[in-house]
Amino acid sequence: MRKGFLDVFVLLMLVAATLLSGCASAPTDKAADEQKGVVIDDQIIIGLSMSDLRVERWQRDRDLFTQRAEALGASVIAVSADLDAEIQNSQIENLILQGVDVLVVIAHDGVKTSSIVEKAHAAGIQVIAYDRLIKDSDLDFYISFDNVKVGEEEAKAVVNVAPKGKYAYLGGSDTDNNAHLVKEGSFNVLQPLIDSGDIEVVLDVFNDGWKSTEAYSQLKAYLDAGNTVDAVVAANDGTALGAIQALEEKGLAGKVPVSGQDASLGSCQSVVEGVQTVTVYKPLSAIAYKAADIAVQFAKGESVESTSTVNNGKIDVPSYLLDVVGVTKDNMMETVIADGFHSYEEVYQNVPASERPATQ
Ligand code: BGC
Repeated sequence: MRKGFLDVFVLLMLVAATLLSGCASAPTDKAADEQKGVVIDDQIIIGLSMSDLRVERWQRDRDLFTQRAEALGASVIAVSADLDAEIQNSQIENLILQGVDVLVVIAHDGVKTSSIVEKAHAAGIQVIAYDRLIKDSDLDFYISFDNVKVGEEEAKAVVNVAPKGKYAYLGGSDTDNNAHLVKEGSFNVLQPLIDSGDIEVVLDVFNDGWKSTEAYSQLKAYLDAGNTVDAVVAANDGTALGAIQALEEKGLAGKVPVSGQDASLGSCQSVVEGVQTVTVYKPLSAIAYKAADIAVQFAKGESVESTSTVNNGKIDVPSYLLDVVGVTKDNMMETVIADGFHSYEEVYQNVPASERPATQ
């Protein structure tokens, strides 16, 4: 419930209950209130609006976020729009009507979702953009990773294996600001090599919804036309998976370097098995816990710590950006495994015991 409204409501109920019962003094504890039929609902409710749950990480984000929020005494109503911006907006309007105290949004479409910020504010609810920026609005807070660095790490690892040749760039979803930041990062690394003539970008596409199937079709169509490729910079592990399938059909999996991000279990396995070159590890507990902390601080009207600001086209949004790390075969043990993000057994399950790294 919303605080201001609730406080006035509770006060009126208390006064009415006091008058009706003829008591001289107002009850001071919850039990006494409940005896008089007054319900004091002081629990913070956080509305968590998610673009989709298709990519492995989002379920983990949701669960970690909820765990932390609940540990802080709040409850979470989580909804997923399955990649539909209109559905996401109406789900958010519904959360506003349900009287959530604060909104945390993983926007499918960073532009289309901007209108809900004003609606939330009109109802006295603050909005935190989780992982993906909401553009052109008076957004209250943005928490994410360094997405430009994600793209840089992807391209660096691929260039390390293929410093020259024909490059395919398989981007993320055009409606997601992160897809643009990640691309910016990759091209920070690629552009000097394009300028020197070492690298030629032969395919450069976005993807509707970061779908593996779409990345697969994009690369397959290119290869089926008789074209060749020496390297693939794919924006995340899902698009990497699609690329690897298309390469596999031409007998090229493991021969052409491929990037990704998210450290999904499948991609970590592909990295240690040699069919994916790099994934980028983004510690999800760090973003989920911090976001839950911030949501509760907003709901309580407390001040919130930011590390920087990010301009969303309208304002400089107070932001908190977390670091990322590129993960190859060489540092899998010190990153993903050391952090317990996936277990050694899971990641190396298809690698013969004699070829696995030592655990000590
Ligand atoms: C996230 C990635 C994720 C992608 C697809 C991006 O906004 O930053 O981690 O793989 O969306 O869901």
